[in-house]
Amino acid sequence: MQNINLLEEIKELKKVKKAIILAHYYQNPEIQMIADYVGDSYQLSKIAKNNDAEVIIFCGVHFMAETAKILSPQKKVILPVKTAGCIMANSITYEELLAFKQEHPDYIIIGYVNTTAKVKTLCDVCVTSSNALKIINHYKGQKILYVPDQNLAKYANYLNQNSDQIEYWDGCCNIHHNLVTGEVKLQKTLHPNAKVLIHPEARLDVLKLADFIGSTKEIIDYVKNSKEKEFIIGTEKGILYALETLNLDKKFYLLSPNLVCRTMKLTTLEDVKNALLETGSKYEEIKLDPKTIELASNALNKMLELSDK
Ligand code: 13P
Ligand code: SF4
Repeated sequence: MQNINLLEEIKELKKVKKAIILAHYYQNPEIQMIADYVGDSYQLSKIAKNNDAEVIIFCGVHFMAETAKILSPQKKVILPVKTAGCIMANSITYEELLAFKQEHPDYIIIGYVNTTAKVKTLCDVCVTSSNALKIINHYKGQKILYVPDQNLAKYANYLNQNSDQIEYWDGCCNIHHNLVTGEVKLQKTLHPNAKVLIHPEARLDVLKLADFIGSTKEIIDYVKNSKEKEFIIGTEKGILYALETLNLDKKFYLLSPNLVCRTMKLTTLEDVKNALLETGSKYEEIKLDPKTIELASNALNKMLELSDK
């Protein structure tokens, strides 16, 4: 009953504030349920840019809300829980990347979207897990530093075995990085008919055991288009909500019980209501200075341009 009232209040507040709610696939089911759009980091950045809402309530982690603000500076962007950060984004600082650039001015800097707005100002282009390989290939033949995800970079180098190898930072997402080959082998033994689908933030030895490697949205599309009935899922647990509700006839097994991003799970319905009301001490309105927006948007817009080519 209390939840029904809360849902009604959120619906009403959205109308009054001309707001939309965006949610990443890793959010809790009740948040995905009330969102206007659920997506991966690439889809959500495009939606943030291309809709005419006045307010965006971004249910995800800090870098995602910042990305929405950079692409739509005229909109109010609110993160319901300001402590919802990302280990990966925190694995490189502005000062560290600046020092690299000063020493190596000839490098193209490709920045994963999982970076802070300040770090993006130093990048030539951004990428997400769904367009990284395409964009890295676009810069083939040039010296490249890829930041901060070592695993996606190693995977790109593996695919380009006999060609240019890119250099990379030593950052990672612990949730995906902690997956080990033994877990894949165990799940394959338990579910011999299941296809193994893994996010490219996992280690290369783990990825080599996958039937398919892709972003959250690509994993969802793969399942939708597959005739198979069972799948072992190697990414954050939240994706199971979309997979299960969209594919009632298919079965899903999480590759490891540790595939839980703690900060993605912090946002509650109450937090969303408070963010819409701009009340309480948990929410944060994303504010960035104009220079940061200008420089970071160059890298993000370059990504959108190359990705859609
Ligand atoms: P996607 O690009 O698949 O949305 O992934 C974002 C992320 O944070 C993965 O851990
Ligand atoms: Fe960041 Fe990993 Fe959480 Fe994705 S799953 S938001 S990369 S900490």
